[in-house]
Amino acid sequence: MRIALLGPPGVGKGTVAGYMSKEFSVPHLSTGEMLRSEVAKQSPLGKEAGGYMDSGALVPDELVVRILDSRMGGQDCKEGFVLDGFPRTAAQAEVLSETMKRGRVELDGAVLLQAGETIVVGRLSGRRQCRECSAIYHLRNQPSKKEGVCDRCGGDLYQRTDDAEGTVRERLAAYRKESGPVIAYYEERGLLRKVSAEGDLDVTLAGMREVLSHLG
Ligand code: AP5
Repeated sequence: MRIALLGPPGVGKGTVAGYMSKEFSVPHLSTGEMLRSEVAKQSPLGKEAGGYMDSGALVPDELVVRILDSRMGGQDCKEGFVLDGFPRTAAQAEVLSETMKRGRVELDGAVLLQAGETIVVGRLSGRRQCRECSAIYHLRNQPSKKEGVCDRCGGDLYQRTDDAEGTVRERLAAYRKESGPVIAYYEERGLLRKVSAEGDLDVTLAGMREVLSHLG
């Protein structure tokens, strides 16, 4: 299975990608996580990307493509993957298509997770994430068993710096500006599917499974 998850910040792409990755035994490729790891390492790429991320802007295509390209070439991606947060611009969608053509494979679908802005802002303000394994929690919707501690690995839970209110506003503005052409790109090619992510996680996951059962 080769799919890309699209949708606004906080809609649940990372959460849903985690479940789908386990269920279909394919890697979860999150460009946001890859970039945060480069920032934490203070690599040259991380230093360059960090400023964009902290302000809520998109990182330039060239940097994101470089980081994703090396990851997608990995042996574990041969049988498929769940892309989370990529592509985010029409240029990235084009690069993805070219990369897949070179590997003689095709994207099965681009799934747009949909929820209103009030919902996604509420999700981002309550999100907590594990510093060690990146597992995602929510203070109210998906709390860890012990406050501040990851159920999966015992790591510390933290709040992402880009979940501050002002940065969330900028991230939503970037999404409004850039997402239209990406959605149109996949719609024109008959690859776009839509799943409501407004309800509880179980309902979103059921919608995902239904859509995926009709792909490829
Ligand atoms: P990235 O990390 O990709 O952030 P994002 O797209 O803004 O999305 P989020 O990770 O914030 O949210 P999500 O949709 O994954 O939601 P989640 O599952 O966590 O990117 C960060 C930055 O990196 C960007 O701003 C940009 O600078 C840069 N970047 C990354 N990719 C790039 C690219 N391709 N090009 C350029 N720049 C790029 O869920 C949110 C919360 O809601 C959680 O607490 C979760 O527990 C809860 N939740 C989820 N689903 C449900 C549900 N159905 N019901 C109730 N609660 C739910």
